[in-house]
Formats: sequence, C-alpha cells, structure tokens
Amino acid sequence: DKASIGVTGLAVMGRNLARNLARHGHTVALHNRTDKRTRELVDQFGSEGEFIPAYSAREFVDALERPRQIVIMVKAGEPTDAVIEEFAPLLESGDVIVDAGNAHFADTRRREAQLRERGLHFVGTGVSGGEEGALHGPSIMPGGSKASYESLGPLLEDISAKVDGDPCCTHIGADGAGHFVKMVHNGIEYADMQLIAESFDLLRGALGHEPAQIAEVFRTWNTGRLDSYLIEITAQVLAHTDAGTGKPFVDVVADQAEQKGTGRWTVQIGLDLGVPISGIAEAVFARSLSGHADLRIGSRELPGPSRSKLKGAEAEGFADDVERALYASKIVAYAQGFNQIQAGGSEYGWDIDLGAVASIWRGGCIIRAKFLDDIRGAYEAEPGLPTLLTSGGFNAAVADAQDSWRRVVATAAQLGIPTPGFSTALAYYDGLRAPRLPAALIQGQRDFFGAHTYRRTDRDGAFHTAWATDDRAESEA
Ligand code: 6PG
Repeated sequence: DKASIGVTGLAVMGRNLARNLARHGHTVALHNRTDKRTRELVDQFGSEGEFIPAYSAREFVDALERPRQIVIMVKAGEPTDAVIEEFAPLLESGDVIVDAGNAHFADTRRREAQLRERGLHFVGTGVSGGEEGALHGPSIMPGGSKASYESLGPLLEDISAKVDGDPCCTHIGADGAGHFVKMVHNGIEYADMQLIAESFDLLRGALGHEPAQIAEVFRTWNTGRLDSYLIEITAQVLAHTDAGTGKPFVDVVADQAEQKGTGRWTVQIGLDLGVPISGIAEAVFARSLSGHADLRIGSRELPGPSRSKLKGAEAEGFADDVERALYASKIVAYAQGFNQIQAGGSEYGWDIDLGAVASIWRGGCIIRAKFLDDIRGAYEAEPGLPTLLTSGGFNAAVADAQDSWRRVVATAAQLGIPTPGFSTALAYYDGLRAPRLPAALIQGQRDFFGAHTYRRTDRDGAFHTAWATDDRAESEA
C-alpha cells in the first residue's frame, strides 16, 4: 500500500505532524536528510499508525499515491529551496508540495509561480501551535491553488484543532496567502504578548504585587472575556519558582526578549502596505529595546519619578482598570492585524474571508482565545467592516473601557512605567476619533519647504502657497 501523504524534515515539528497524520489513520511516508531521525521516529512511534520510512528521495516519492503530497518541514529560507529542488524533478504534473515552515510569503509567491510553470502545485501553509499543536491539532493556514486544496484540504482539516466541531483549517487564498496570514498571526501574537507583559509590569510596579499574586489575577481574568491560551500560560509562568534560587522564575530570566523574525516581517509589510499596525510595531520595538543593553543606561542617567506605589482608593480599582485597558488595547491590536490582512488581500488579489480566519484561530494556535469567536461573528455579520472597532460588541467594550484605559496610561506615565503597547493603542483609538488631525499642519509644512502642495477642505484640486513671497498667494497646482 502507498502513503496518502509524506513528510520530509523530521525535527520535532515535522515528526509531530507526521505522527498526528498517522494517528488519524493516514499512511505517512517519512523522509529526512539524515536517516537517523527517520529510524528513530519509526522505532519510537511506529505503533501509532502506518509509516513508510524512505531512505532516499526516489524511495520517498515512489511510496506516495498520486497526486503525491509532500509536506516539507525544514528551516525557512535556503533549506526550503534546496529540498524543493531535491524533489521537484522526481514529481509529476498535479503533484503537491506543501511548505509548512514559517516562510516569508514573498518567497512562497516566488516558489509557487516557479513550480506552477513545472506543472506542480505549491502550497505555502501556516501552521501554528508549536510542538504540542503539531501533535494534537494545530491551526492550519494553507495558501496555494483551490485545486490543490481538494486533495490536501481533507487531510489537513482532519489533523487540525477543532472548535465546536469546526476544523481550524481553511483554504486562505492563492499562492502566498496562507503564509501572509500566518505572518500577521505572529505579529498579533507579539502585540498580545507585549500587552500582557505590560499588564504584569503595571500590577507589579503600581501595586507592588508579587509574581505569584499576579498569576492569580491572570487566572481570574482567564475565566472571563480575556480567556485565552496566552493569558493561561502567563499565569503558569508567573506562578513558577526557580528551583535553584527559590526566586520567582520571571525574576531570574534575563529581560531581553528575542525574536526569530516573523513579527519584524509583519511590520515591514505593514509599512509597505501603509497600514497603521502600531500595536504590532511597538511590540517588535519593545523587544528590540529590551535587547539593547548598551542603550539601557538606567535611572541614574535618565531621571524620572521614583517608582512609588498607588495607595488607598487609587490602588483599589487599579487591577480592574488594567483588565479593561488590556481588553481595549487587545481589540485595537487585532483590529489593526485584520486590517493588514484586508490590505494584503487587496494588494495581492487574495479573496480572504476574515471571518474564516478568525474562526480557524479559535483553536490550536498561539493566539487562540474566546474572543476570536466574537471577531468571527463581527466579520460574518459585516464582511466589509472597515475596523473591528465599529462592530457592536467591540465598540461597546472599548467605550466602556476607555476611562480605565486613560487612567492606566496616565498612571503609567506618572509612575514611569513604560507601556508602549497600551499607549499606542489608546493613541490609535483617539486618532480614529479625532474630528481633525494635525496632519493639516504637516501638509502646510511640506508645502512650505518643498512645494509639495495640499488639498483643501472646501474645494477640489491641489494647491500651493507662495510661502517665500510677501503676499503668500495661493495657486492651483
Ligand atoms: C506559532 C508560533 C511559532 C513560533 C513563533 C516564535 O504560531 O506556533 O508563532 O511560529 O513559536 O514564531 O516567534 P519568535 O521567536 O519570533 O518570538
């Protein structure tokens, strides 16, 4: 018997995807650059299902039924191109190559176009949920042709997470759409993590709570509208005590956040598309600031308020204020991310169903949360929604949160606690509210120094003022 799908690249993500497929009754061909990993998988997990180990590219390809479906799970970048070139010459028209790594969507577009020329389907697919997700049910975001989804879709849906019986997998759109959406997922992940981290810092800095107490606060929040995987693991990390020192784990970890690049890509593309994704950008910059030991010269050189705590009535409602500010800021971050997906869709000609994206993020992935069901509902009710901030429930939640939100940002500023995520989210909200923005002044400045012209509120056309002359006459450009 032949295999219905093959996995090449059997490090932990590839291995777990292969096991997940086998556990669902699919026969899986296995291949790895070195044979050792292939043998180990069969030795350790062979009893979980039907595996066909292959020790050469030819053997691997021959083990697959047609159309052949090969999942590549290697380090994104050149290794992916190398593996594609290893297999593509052995494949036949209609066969499908799936790249399940965190590839840049522009690479996916290039690879898809090249392989299409050769009669092959190339499906760049986002997979979220880490090692555990890969084994027990990830959120899966496949791009590529509709035709490829006919054979591949049922397999992927089968192994994906399920929420209320719905698979957390859907065809996102052509060529690089899946990797684009996975990229934005990761950007939102960065923003969400930053906001949660700021909430911790505020509760500690303004109230003087210990990490274990704050873990309790997060645990409580996790029973309400903030219910999410990231809040849940935050509580666990904060409650953890370092075995060696007996100190809170979070106090013995170096406070320099690392990144592998998907958040940075999201911001780069956001800039290219002209989408204000300030929440994601601040989150990426906050990580890079944390890593600049040389810049972090400290409070002796950079004076500010000594970090006194809130007292009495001020302290009383502060944790609830932070909960509301967190929820409102989170809505802003997601609104920005979904706008970026919308913009990417228009730019690259993908017909992306935003409600479906929210739906497949409800389970399996790192940003899975109860609140994604509300986002799904918002886009199902109104697919062309300009921003999630105008949709009923979110609109009301943000309006209700705003006094708390302002108090939290003001308190942070007064106490000298950096909250770039909360602050930029509030500035974005106020930017959308403002009847007039000082952008008019910027237009004046641009016209003054560079004759860049401006538009008027009362007439059509482009205008220039002769700033250097005495009469400052206006002319139509
Ligand atoms: C996921 C994660 C996964 C990975 C992040 C980590 O959806 O499963 O997002 O892709 O853990 O890319 O990213 P950083 O190393 O950049 O924080």
